[in-house]
Amino acid sequence: MIKDVQEEILRLKKEKDICILAHSYTAHEILEVADFTGDSYALSVKAKTAPQKTVIMAGVRFMAETVKILSPEKTVLLAHPEAGCPMAEQMDKELITAVKQQYPDYTVVAYINTSAELKTVCDVCVTSSSAVKIVRQIENPNILFIPDCNLGAYVREQVPEKHIKLLQGGCPVHASVNAEEAARAKELHPNALLLVHPECTPDVVRQADFVGSTSAIMDYAKNSPCQEFIIGTEISIAEHLQYACPDKDFYYLSQKLICKNMKMSTLMDVYHAVCGRGGEEIKLDADTISKARKCIDEMIRLGG
Ligand code: 13P
Ligand code: SF4
Repeated sequence: MIKDVQEEILRLKKEKDICILAHSYTAHEILEVADFTGDSYALSVKAKTAPQKTVIMAGVRFMAETVKILSPEKTVLLAHPEAGCPMAEQMDKELITAVKQQYPDYTVVAYINTSAELKTVCDVCVTSSSAVKIVRQIENPNILFIPDCNLGAYVREQVPEKHIKLLQGGCPVHASVNAEEAARAKELHPNALLLVHPECTPDVVRQADFVGSTSAIMDYAKNSPCQEFIIGTEISIAEHLQYACPDKDFYYLSQKLICKNMKMSTLMDVYHAVCGRGGEEIKLDADTISKARKCIDEMIRLGG
């Protein structure tokens, strides 16, 4: 059954000139029919260069908006209309405009997990894989980093020469793991390396053997001579790695690391979107696109 649906998706996307992008947190059967998979940075770069006229995003809303901002001439569909990122909705344009008035000499660095509207008042975007590199390159020593205070704290530690101000936002999924759970997981699997996403809290990150984006975690585990790993990000990454490396052992850092928004997109959603009777078309006005695009282009320029 799954194979039949997958074959139909592959046939239709070729016939209709559709590109499917899937974030690594989505299900394995979706990744198998995608043209590109990866972390949010890789997807945003692929979105820019994909030749197809229609793009379906199996991921969350800010990722589909990023595709639309970079390719306004394309039809962009979010596979599941309700798949949003709670962190992307924590801060709005009005709040950040008011904060900017208090800190006029700060460069506003926005994690890509923000709405298109919020990006219009920010200076540069970053993803978890590019944040350290980009912040290091910004000339201004004063940085206002939004919305993830955990990723921001990690960047602050890696780039001590900058003066980084944080606001209280973050990913409720990654922030749900605490230091005791990390210590317990390490005790339970003493030979395993702990690999964590920088959206985890600083006291979890401090215990990690490696910190990186979803793709960086996957690459590290695949290339490491080590045999066992505790995966401190969304549980799908441990599952994809177990498929890819059957001779190694992968453990969840915590069963709480499930992003229900990323799990909303199913293979059937992708099928319905490819058929033209599902998904939600992303519509953004020209002014939002041109203002939001500046900070995404700046991210690609500095991160490239
Ligand atoms: P990545 O940049 O690692 O893909 O992270 C996106 C995300 O939503 C993590 O929770
Ligand atoms: Fe947003 Fe966290 Fe889900 Fe990533 S894991 S999409 S940051 S809620």
